[in-house]
Amino acid sequence: MNTAEAIRAKIAQLPRPTLTELFAAEPDRVARMSGRVMLDDGGEDSLGGVLFDWSKSHLSAAHLAAFEELAGAMDFAGRRAALLTGERVNTTENRAAEHMAQRGLGRASSVEEAEALHARMRGLVGAIQAGALGEIKHLIHIGIGGSALGPAMAIDALARDGAFCAVHVVSNIDGCALEAAFAACDPATTLIAVASKTFTTTETITNALSALDWLGQNGVADPFGRVVALTAAPEKAVEWGVDETRVLPFPESVGGRYSLWSSIGFPIALALGWDDFAEMLAGAAAVDRHFAEAEGAANLCLRAAFADYYYASVLGQQTRACFAYDERLRLLPFYLQQLEMESNGKCVDLAGAPLAMPSAPITWGGVGTDAQHAVFQLLHQGTVELPVDFVACVAPGDALDPAHHRILLMNCFAQGAALMAGRAAKDGARAYPGNRPSATILIDALTPASLGALVAFHEHRTFANAVLLGINPFDQFGVELGKEVAKALEKGEVAFDPGTSALMAAAGLS
Ligand code: F6P
Repeated sequence: MNTAEAIRAKIAQLPRPTLTELFAAEPDRVARMSGRVMLDDGGEDSLGGVLFDWSKSHLSAAHLAAFEELAGAMDFAGRRAALLTGERVNTTENRAAEHMAQRGLGRASSVEEAEALHARMRGLVGAIQAGALGEIKHLIHIGIGGSALGPAMAIDALARDGAFCAVHVVSNIDGCALEAAFAACDPATTLIAVASKTFTTTETITNALSALDWLGQNGVADPFGRVVALTAAPEKAVEWGVDETRVLPFPESVGGRYSLWSSIGFPIALALGWDDFAEMLAGAAAVDRHFAEAEGAANLCLRAAFADYYYASVLGQQTRACFAYDERLRLLPFYLQQLEMESNGKCVDLAGAPLAMPSAPITWGGVGTDAQHAVFQLLHQGTVELPVDFVACVAPGDALDPAHHRILLMNCFAQGAALMAGRAAKDGARAYPGNRPSATILIDALTPASLGALVAFHEHRTFANAVLLGINPFDQFGVELGKEVAKALEKGEVAFDPGTSALMAAAGLS
């Protein structure tokens, strides 16, 4: 048994105090298990910070010590250094993972490249806002996965008023999605962004061609003249027909699910303005610095991964939930699904050997308080136990009676308290087991900076989980087989299982 295996075994055998017992044994638990990342150096107009409270997780001092040993045995510091210095950490694709360089941290040449590409994006954003493409009131952003989820979340969170233009993110190949965007847009004042790292994704290219048709059929003389391409394959975009001056490249070393900081973030910069986009990068950079400098359990991203590993890989809890108690963050759980499940939903380690423990759990969630009226029954009284994250903002996003926000926050905090405390009752149906974990991320105010910080925290949390598991979080071969089968179905190339063949026949597709 090697060192890491021995430590994993030790963690699994550690005593498991209840949350109530942990608080009773550790009077300073809240202080020790919470930490803040400030978004700037404070001062009168400070952007504030983000509080990460993991006190209601089952990590005892013994767990933290053992997990720090595991992080050491898995060479967390070495893998972090490799990530930060642009080494080819994506071993199966022989590629670096340089999303941090987009925020100014990493290999000097990559940071310089990111700055140059950002300058190009800033120039195009400024030109469009100044009228270079005529009056623009709508942007239809066509992309899928990492080419859509980040922009969609950021715009939904931050561009609720005062945006330069309305942004409609279209990802699904289902024509209903694109038709809904068409219905909301005036062709004469609509811009199309085609976002695809590879510039080959079927859904995106098909949707983009239909958008071009729509423009042409509705009086736009030069539809391609209204297209901006966001891609790591600029030559393909030019070949497809987009003028080179409106192609915004980004490096191959920025993964799709890590790409909203790059040219894929064009709709964010166009809608919010460059200063807000730059502020989002700066907020992420504040967390990057914390991640790069903090060691052991003081590293909030790594400490979150300790808890994630404990619940998923030691206790075998197969899901983890994130509830945004803020309407503006309602898309956060969906963003985290791709980030976490496409990064760590793996079954082999860095050497290609089968994993000896469960890897990423299923990330799901929703928005509060709605979720209380839908799924919290199971969270409180179900037989399935799982860790729950709450994300909330101290400052409200609305200008209504303060009661709205006060009730929202009190419900958020109450749910975590109730999950932990439970309640005994003679009648089993009215008994709450309690001792159910939660973590709370409390943002001072939702701004471009704090959103950037929140996303960067989860990127690093995901990476730290991969280190503890000994896996590569940066490839995603699992998404290819389904696409290949779909293409084979389309060509009628192969015989399928009887069920699939029958479905094809029933749908008139065979
Ligand atoms: O199929 C999965 C995936 O490759 C994601 O990783 C990616 O974000 C998405 O498809 C879109 O890919 P592209 O940006 O190349 O169109």
